[in-house]
Amino acid sequence: MNSGIITVSYIASSALFIMALGGLSHQETARRGNFYGMLGMGLAVLVTIVGLVTENQVFLIGGIVVGGIIGWILAKRVEMTQMPELVAILHSLVGLAAVFVGWANALDHGVSLSSVEQAIHASETYIGILIGALTFSGSVCAYLKLAAKISGKPLQLPGRHLFNLGLGVLAIWFGVEYVAASPDGGITWLVAMTIIALIFGVHMVVAIGGADMPVVVSMLNSYSGWAAAAMGFMLGNDLLIVVGALVGSSGAILSYIMCKAMNRKFLNVILGGFGNKSSGGSASAGAAGSEEDIKPIEADEAADMLVNAKEVMILPGYGMAVAQAQHTVFEISKKLRDKGVNVRFGIHPVAGRMPGHMNVLLAEAKVPYDIVYEMDEINEDFPNVDVSVVIGANDIVNPAAQEVPDSPIAGMPVLEPWKGKTTIVLKRGMSTGYAGVDNPLFYKDNTRMLFGDAKDSVDSILKILNG
Ligand code: TAP
Repeated sequence: MNSGIITVSYIASSALFIMALGGLSHQETARRGNFYGMLGMGLAVLVTIVGLVTENQVFLIGGIVVGGIIGWILAKRVEMTQMPELVAILHSLVGLAAVFVGWANALDHGVSLSSVEQAIHASETYIGILIGALTFSGSVCAYLKLAAKISGKPLQLPGRHLFNLGLGVLAIWFGVEYVAASPDGGITWLVAMTIIALIFGVHMVVAIGGADMPVVVSMLNSYSGWAAAAMGFMLGNDLLIVVGALVGSSGAILSYIMCKAMNRKFLNVILGGFGNKSSGGSASAGAAGSEEDIKPIEADEAADMLVNAKEVMILPGYGMAVAQAQHTVFEISKKLRDKGVNVRFGIHPVAGRMPGHMNVLLAEAKVPYDIVYEMDEINEDFPNVDVSVVIGANDIVNPAAQEVPDSPIAGMPVLEPWKGKTTIVLKRGMSTGYAGVDNPLFYKDNTRMLFGDAKDSVDSILKILNG
């Protein structure tokens, strides 16, 4: 294929990827953004196969078909709540691909290069394998943690920062030796660095506590982007460099936003609790109130309060996703709005188990976007809210973040329903949430607990509202 056509197609793909990111930044345009992304990737793959690859197309197409089928089946089977695990394991594949490309590059001496070119080529290869290997082992470890196949507790070895520093110094030293010795030697340095990077990836992730895992996943997302960019340099493929840089930088920005939402310092998270006793997300023992303070409510009384309210705020959390209650919640909101009640939804940035989890569920249930608000937009409205309905949420509405200075979630911004007139909490019992911290909200005077599976509870409320 004419190289001009390839270049133009790659520019078009890059533009489509940028439009995809733009689209994904708003719920209204997210579907379109996804479509642009698929179109860009389809074009990139097609042009690469037809235009760039000159041999072994059969293997390539066979690999795409087999990989595509496996991906299709996995994507169909995976539950929304298992998405972070799927994302983590997919990042590991990007890392592994970078390691393979790097090793193939290091072992292929077919092209003769000037000494400067050779030094650049060896550095690209070295850095590509380094990022790829730590992304691979870190992502596998993150997957095992998220899937609860290994403990979610942070493993913080004594002197771990010194250990990391030692690994970093060794990686730089081996890199200098490898670049000097390549292309005719230096493979031992490369093997040693690959092992160091694999160990570093595991050590970095096992040191991070369960509560910080969302940030780790988005950080690995960023690393996988840089690994792809490194592959782009190794293969001389501009599109891979652009796409890698887009993924790398957007993952880094997302990590930063999530750190802000959870009141974490990014450096503390990636260094596994550096200078931060609470970053392990360990459970705080003890209940936040006494049993007599818990005031249960039944569905009929809850329905009654809702129809008689002027302002209702619905605050969904992870339990709504587990119970798949979003469709009934939408029906209830519609019913109440028809009766003249102003119903709004309040979304915490880390509600659920992945960025945008609640937005996806509400969009799936066809909740209109203009009644869905971010935490920062609605927190100051709570004093005017008659009834807040917390559906399967816990950490994101926990006043301990503001009231208990030594709480593991101290300082995390939270939704503040207790400032309204009444809060109804839908959950099955008094279990803690992801961070393992008991919630004083459940014991407050103006809180009523509607116990039961969230789907059963909202079904009962809707039945009563329907008369
Ligand atoms: P959580 O704090 O995890 O609380 C969820 C609550 O839902 C639990 O207390 C549970 O109580 C209840 N629940 C579970 N299944 C239920 C069901 N079928 N029906 C009714 N209730 C049910 O969730 P959250 O408030 O959404 O906070 C999210 C947490 O996850 C934060 O700590 C956040 O940092 C973390 N996290 C977030 C992400 C992202 S990026 N969103 C990723 C990973 C982790 P019962 O068992 O008593 O019912």
